[in-house]
Amino acid sequence: MTEKSEQHWEEQARNWIAWVREPRMDSYWTYRDAFLDLVPAPGLATLDQGCGEGRVARDLAARGHRVTGIDASPTLVDAAARAHPEGEYLVADAAALPLDDDRFDLVVAYNVLMDVSDVDGFLRESARVLVTGGRLCLSITHPITNGTDRAHPYFEQNWYTEPVERNGLPMVFGGWSRPLSAYTSALESAGFLIEAVREPRWQDVPTPYHLWLRALLP
Ligand SMILES: C[S@@+](CC[C@H](N)C(=O)[O-])C[C@H]1O[C@@H](n2cnc3c(N)ncnc32)[C@H](O)[C@@H]1O
Repeated sequence: MTEKSEQHWEEQARNWIAWVREPRMDSYWTYRDAFLDLVPAPGLATLDQGCGEGRVARDLAARGHRVTGIDASPTLVDAAARAHPEGEYLVADAAALPLDDDRFDLVVAYNVLMDVSDVDGFLRESARVLVTGGRLCLSITHPITNGTDRAHPYFEQNWYTEPVERNGLPMVFGGWSRPLSAYTSALESAGFLIEAVREPRWQDVPTPYHLWLRALLP
């Protein structure tokens, strides 16, 4: 599993923790409430697949969800567990979850899928751990905005990195630009039915910045 993107996020873990824990810096602060409006009410149990340092898991727990978080980065999982000692956090490849079948009725994956190497494996595992009738809520950076230019055509899969510095905090974002159909065909193969789609705006950027989906496992 030690592929480019997974290795990248472990290398950037300290920068990412500082970045996301700086109040109001990341777009999550703008989007959080609208994204969580798309998320069903707490039920059986919720998996945060690609939880990072745990900000989404903590927000879900504050709304009454019983959350398990998994992430490939040991440094980020350690930070998540320290920030939320009552939670369950595991180091794992999202495409090979060490979790039983049918354990959850909700999977949340916030800004993870464009960062993972194996989208099909990730979503197959989401479906395996979900009960029939369970739901998957995900956010990705919008494929139309994400790393597409003349040198990186929309229909090809390309690895990109984007160094950013804000408020004196450095961060190198890294992930895969892929066409929208790479995600929708993986959802289809895993057995999901898309039931809601959102394209939230970000400041004055003329194209959608994020894409949010809610999908049902019938
Ligand atoms: C942009 S961060 C988002 C983290 C978290 N969802 C949040 O919003 O704060 C992307 C995350 O995907 C994780 N990741 C990438 N590939 C993964 C894989 N194969 N399995 C599990 N996690 C992975 C990275 O370690 C990183 O924590």
